[in-house]
Amino acid sequence: MSDIKKIKDDYINKLNTENNIDKVNNIKSELFGKNGIVSNEFKKLGSVSVEERKKLASVLNNIKDELQNKISIKIQEIETKEINLNLEKEKIDVTLPERDFEIGKIHPVSQVIDEISSIFSEIGFSVEEGPDVENEYNNFTALNTPDNHPARDMHDTFYLDNNKELLLRTHTSPVQVRTMLKGKPPFKIIAPGRTYRSDSDQTHAPMFHQVEGLHIDKNIHMGHLKGCLNYFIKEFFEVDKIKMRFRPSHFPFTEPSAEVDIGYEIKNGKIVIGEGDKWLEILGCGMVHPSVLKNVKVNPSKYQGYAFGIGIDRLGMLKYGINDLRAFFETDYRWLSHFGFDPLDVPSNYRGLSR
Ligand code: DAH
Repeated sequence: MSDIKKIKDDYINKLNTENNIDKVNNIKSELFGKNGIVSNEFKKLGSVSVEERKKLASVLNNIKDELQNKISIKIQEIETKEINLNLEKEKIDVTLPERDFEIGKIHPVSQVIDEISSIFSEIGFSVEEGPDVENEYNNFTALNTPDNHPARDMHDTFYLDNNKELLLRTHTSPVQVRTMLKGKPPFKIIAPGRTYRSDSDQTHAPMFHQVEGLHIDKNIHMGHLKGCLNYFIKEFFEVDKIKMRFRPSHFPFTEPSAEVDIGYEIKNGKIVIGEGDKWLEILGCGMVHPSVLKNVKVNPSKYQGYAFGIGIDRLGMLKYGINDLRAFFETDYRWLSHFGFDPLDVPSNYRGLSR
C-alpha cells in the first residue's frame, strides 16, 4: 500500500519534468498497460479480504484518477507547445521585398494589340469588344452573308450546336453589327480580338487574332479609308515611307471591296517592309454595304463609311521577325522570354511603340 503511493509520487515527479510525448506515452503503458503497475495492483484485489478490498479499491481508484489526469494534462501541454513552436517557425513577413524578382514578359500578340490600339486612338478611334461565342446572325446574316452564301463555306466555321445558331466567331466583323445596333452614328471604332476557323498549318492556326475597323459618318469615302490605312501601316512599322496597293476583291459586307498588300524585300536574309517589289497581303477592307447598314438600322442614304479587317498575328510576325505562327500559341517560356516585351514599357506614340 505505501509502496504504490510512493510509486505514484515518483511517477508524478517524473511527469512534471517530462517534455517528450513518446516518453509520456511510455509512462502511460508502464502504468496502465496489460502488465502495467497500476493494472497489476487492481488484479491483486481478488486475493484480499472483502473488508480490505473496499479500502484498497478506493485508494487505487484515486491513484489511478490522479495519474491519468496528470498524463492527459501533460500530453495536452506538450502538444500545445509544439503547435506554438511550429507557428513561430512558419511565420512569414509578407511585407519584406522579394529577393529573386523575375519579371514576366508580355506576349507579342498582346504587345501588337496595344500598339494598334495606341495608333488608332491617336486619330479618334475608340476600342470595342465582342464575345468569342457569337450567334449566326451577327457573324453572317447581318453582314449580308445569308444562309447558303458561298462565303460561309470559306470560313470553316466551328459551330457549337446542331442548329448552327451558335458558333465561334470566324472574324471580328460581328463587332461592327453589335456596335451599330447599340448606338447611333457616327461610329469610329476598332475591335481587336480572337477569331476561330478550322484550319491549321505554318501560316494558319485554328485560333488567331484580328482587328476590325469601322468608320461611319456623313460623307466618308474611299479616300478616307486609304489615308487611314496608310497612316496606320507607317506608324505600325515605324517607317516614313510605305509601298501599299489596293487590289479589287470581294466581301459580302463591303462594296466596293479591296485587299491591301504592302511592298517588301528581303535584305541579308531579313524582311524589309515598305521597299522592294514583292507584295504581301495584310488586310481586307471596303465601303460598308448598304444592306449591312439597313440591317443595323442605320440609314444608308444619310450615312456611309468604310470598314477593314487586319490579321494581327501576321503583322506581329512581320514586325518582330517571327517566322512560325504556331510558336505564338505553344506557351514555350523560353520563346516568350526571347520574343516577349517588358510589362512596364507600355506602347505609346510619343515614347515609341516598340522601344
Ligand atoms: N472579315 C473579313 C475576313 O475575316 C475581313 C474584312 C474584310 C473585314 C473587309 C472588313 C472588311 O471589315 O471591310 O476575312
